Amino acid sequence: MAKIKVGVLGATGTVGQKFIYLLEQHPFFEVSDLVASERSKGKKYQQAVVWKQDAEIPANVKDLTVKTYDEPLTAKIFFSGLDAAVAGDIETYLAEKGNVVITNSKNHRMDKDVPISIPEINSEHFEILKKQPYPGFIVTNSNCSTMFLAIALAPLHKKYKIKRLFVSTLQAISGAGYPGIPSLDILGNVVPFIGGEEEKIESELKKMLGTFDGQQIIPADFTVSAHCNRVPVIDGHTETVSIEFEQKPSVNEIKELLSSFQGEPQQMDLPFAPDYPVIVREQDDRPQPRLDANLYKGMATFVGRIRECNVFDIKMVIMGHNTIRGAAGAAVLNAEYLYKKGYFDSII
Ligand SMILES: NC(=O)c1ccc[n+]([C@@H]2O[C@H](COP(=O)([O-])OP(=O)(O)OC[C@H]3O[C@@H](n4cnc5c(N)ncnc54)[C@H](OP(=O)(O)O)[C@@H]3O)[C@@H](O)[C@H]2O)c1
Repeated sequence: MAKIKVGVLGATGTVGQKFIYLLEQHPFFEVSDLVASERSKGKKYQQAVVWKQDAEIPANVKDLTVKTYDEPLTAKIFFSGLDAAVAGDIETYLAEKGNVVITNSKNHRMDKDVPISIPEINSEHFEILKKQPYPGFIVTNSNCSTMFLAIALAPLHKKYKIKRLFVSTLQAISGAGYPGIPSLDILGNVVPFIGGEEEKIESELKKMLGTFDGQQIIPADFTVSAHCNRVPVIDGHTETVSIEFEQKPSVNEIKELLSSFQGEPQQMDLPFAPDYPVIVREQDDRPQPRLDANLYKGMATFVGRIRECNVFDIKMVIMGHNTIRGAAGAAVLNAEYLYKKGYFDSII
């Protein structure tokens, strides 16, 4: 079977590089187009990029010429890791030209006809793509810290209904892109502010755990309070969470529900689907970014320290790889799902 040509928008950035790294030898897709800014335009990829992956630049990509989005492109399917300052307009432009854009940028996430998709938990939201005004369409990933919360909390919300939750994050520096935060600001330090992040968690989570009624996505009806902190960890966002439910589950019920949870990508045996989306850790000192984030190809969400909470009902620790499951890997899984479900049939 001939592979589907795909483009990477923001190909030189942290997320763009991760796409290129993850798509090497993908069974369905091959990278044919690299898009970045005027700064990179016309250069061979290996000259334009400050490559920061722990593997060589894939041989089929390193000599591709980087283009800008308005040049002729061969792909019709694009993964986006564009800087949010420019992503919105470029992604709309490409969808208007009949392309599919699967993006990590924030710009379109809260558009009413755009899903924030995780196929394990809200694949019915893809139906809203039919309401988009473009010949192509736009699908988004959530913000990276919301991703792990959504995956771990979706099965719990479905069964026990969340009333309120409080989350405090410890977010890795790779989440800020490259070169990101100056070393003098982050080494041996904690920065208790990530611009816009708390608002994103508080709004995106409710949309992702909301219901699609055939016409619109109705956000979940619970309240969220988020505190976001940047910590000197390379990869892996950790989140400490306290949750109040309408029907309080026991600690054991939560462990059983989360560790047995599977969704459509697992049934479809998609290449980027982990066998189990949530891994429950029993050890008191897990999950940890350095020990857990890269396991299961970076696609699992880890939950540990599930215990009673004195203020709400239950508290726990959630952790995942922010540039893989929290960004590029999640977008690749969305693309695999969309392709297998026929959403690309009229495009490619
Ligand atoms: N890092 C994460 O963990 C993470 C997780 C989830 C979501 N995100 C989101 O994903 C997006 C990318 O993040 P990142 O961390 O990869 O950022 P980054 O490392 O700063 O990369 C930004 C990319 O955008 C390109 N770009 C900048 N201005 C452009 C323009 N005018 N036209 C075309 N391309 C332009 C850059 O190309 P040049 O090199 O040519 O300038 C670069 O390829 C952001 O919206 C971010 O919020 C990031």
